[in-house]
Amino acid sequence: MPAIVLIGAQWGDEGKGKATDLLGPRVDYVVKFNGGNNAGHTVVVGDEKYALHLLPSGILAPNVIPVISNGVVVDIEVLFDELDALIERGVDVSRLIVSANAHVITQYHRTLDRVTERFLGKRQIGTTGRGIGPAYADKINRVGIRIQDLFDENILRQKVEGALHQKNHMLVKVYNRRAILVDEIVDDLLSYSERLKPMVADTALVLSQALDAGKTVLFEGGQATMLDVDHGTYPFVTSSNATSGGAATGSGVAPNRIDRVIAVVKAYTTRVGAGPFPTELFDASGDFLRDNGFEFGTTTGRPRRCGWYDAPIARYTARINGVTDFVLTKLDVLTGLETIPVCVAYDVDGERHDEVPVSQSDFHHAIPIYEEFPGWDEDITGVREFDDLPKNARDYVLAVEAMSGSRISAIGVGADREAIVVRHDLLD
Ligand code: GDP
Ligand code: IMO
Ligand code: MG
Repeated sequence: MPAIVLIGAQWGDEGKGKATDLLGPRVDYVVKFNGGNNAGHTVVVGDEKYALHLLPSGILAPNVIPVISNGVVVDIEVLFDELDALIERGVDVSRLIVSANAHVITQYHRTLDRVTERFLGKRQIGTTGRGIGPAYADKINRVGIRIQDLFDENILRQKVEGALHQKNHMLVKVYNRRAILVDEIVDDLLSYSERLKPMVADTALVLSQALDAGKTVLFEGGQATMLDVDHGTYPFVTSSNATSGGAATGSGVAPNRIDRVIAVVKAYTTRVGAGPFPTELFDASGDFLRDNGFEFGTTTGRPRRCGWYDAPIARYTARINGVTDFVLTKLDVLTGLETIPVCVAYDVDGERHDEVPVSQSDFHHAIPIYEEFPGWDEDITGVREFDDLPKNARDYVLAVEAMSGSRISAIGVGADREAIVVRHDLLD
């Protein structure tokens, strides 16, 4: 039975929450394997709209076991706040399990995220300020705090001391901030341990056994391929592996157990924060996409940068992740455009590049080479069959599919849960 990985194809906010929701009834476990509360998934269920940051979107499905696995960085205060907000709205959150090996985001990670960004000045990454980068840096630097450390006060104190030793020198001498007290952090973390304990599990073992028992496990990636710390537009990336390989290392489920890789791709492109973005628009077309697509961040409320569809990025995503299916979202947002440009390659200093250039400097000044497609005016939000789409919309999808390196199996035609056209079964 399948292990399915679902990831973002571009720079995030492709509508991954909605794609997860589409698989909902057939999935037994939904695993968040990377990132933390930097993610923002908006899921619309009936008249209810949910904004999830840390929790896997599977938390909303009553038959699903939501899992936060080892690859995630957990801000426990945010975890409890998000759980409480759902409990208040009548959602049963009691099935959630959290890996004992997941790392913890503490107050000093949030502080460091903000001060380092400020000191970067013009070279700012535009992080979400949630402490993600500093928490992953500690993990790699082997001075991180893990969930399991919260249940051994002695160990916890030693680890917090170790982590703060160097950081306090930095905070005081470099950043001119006050030192953070070990007791303050230890007391804060210990105050969560009682409520947290029943949720903690060996999630790698649980997931392996679930797959052995024929259950369906969905690995839900936060962020996206172009924000991956290894394969994205470094250093303008997040600090985790948001690509399909991250599902294996971030969960402890072996790569050869993964059957399908679904990439969610918008019918155009958006990006939040700094970094290269070849098809970015600075004119009325950009405003059109932002206004019609309601492109404002779920986590920080920032207006998203908007641009046309970039086929070399889709092909790159197909290759890096081993994509078996694309879910193309927000096709409805393009309704009303006379012509729709699609980037088919780049011009870098007079030379044509069909693939994403390996050199970051080249990518920074890559100029898109566009092919234009005729638009449509008909409202497509009620369409449920591919053949019922206007001809120009069908042709746009088929053209994009031919350029993107894998089949487009479903098409989002509106924000509602039902607003989707399915062309191929995602699990078949
Ligand atoms: P995620 O981070 O990938 O989960 O995506 P976000 O939730 O940050 O952003 C996607 C937004 O697009 C959400 O507000 C969704 O409700 C919305 N959305 C998803 N699919 C569609 C679609 O096909 N059409 C339209 N108009 N909106 C969509
Ligand atoms: P979802 O899961 C879009 C961006 C930030 C910033 C960079 C690094 O909703 O698609 P970080 O706080 O992670 O260190 O910031 O990554 N970023 C996202 N952009 N969607 C997201 O998540 C993002 N998570 C991080 O804007 O440029
Ligand atoms: Mg988002």
